[in-house]
Amino acid sequence: MWPTFKGEDWDRCMDQFAQEHFIVLDQFLPSNVLESVCTYFASVEAENLLKAAAIGPGKERTRISEIRSDFVHWLDRPLMPELDSFFDGMDTLRAAIAESLFLSLRGYEFHFAKYPEGAFYKPHLDQFNRRENRMISVVIYLNENWKREHGGSLKLHKPNEKLIEPIMNRMVMFRSDTVLHEVLTAHETRRSLTGWLLKHPATVGVLGI
Ligand code: OGA
Ligand code: MN
Repeated sequence: MWPTFKGEDWDRCMDQFAQEHFIVLDQFLPSNVLESVCTYFASVEAENLLKAAAIGPGKERTRISEIRSDFVHWLDRPLMPELDSFFDGMDTLRAAIAESLFLSLRGYEFHFAKYPEGAFYKPHLDQFNRRENRMISVVIYLNENWKREHGGSLKLHKPNEKLIEPIMNRMVMFRSDTVLHEVLTAHETRRSLTGWLLKHPATVGVLGI
């Protein structure tokens, strides 16, 4: 489907998304794009750029770490020309979804996420109280040889229950406002490229959690 997001298969995906609020697409990125994403992720790790996905000092920080225990690094396109082909694809994806679903989608934001052994993310929606900009969540998993016993599945609770294993180059997309979801405890390091298609352009210096 990459990089055009057109045609009958794509229309079927969008029909399914409209009905079920999520879709799963395996072998999502073409191999050259997948390789550049994995290579970039490795350099981010080597430079120790992943930060605990928590905000605020003291008590607030503790509270958040009870909800999620992953580490993230936000992408910033102008600083990352190596990821141009990925961002080009996301531009096309965003336009294609906007057209198919009659949505206004004028931006996106992405981060790398790493769940060390034992990490999780408790049930939540991706739209926050005071930040209603996130329309559609997009997660691309980057885990070679992931096995069921490694846990770390994405569990969708609502509208329907569903378990999705985080296998290499699987993409899951779901509505940020309706799909209650969690990341079950990972028993192995679990990596993903996670993002959101936004109603309004992303602000500079994203303050996401
Ligand atoms: C998130 C999230 C799901 C996943 O980062 O908000 O729910 O499977 N991620 O990594
Ligand atoms: Mn989420």
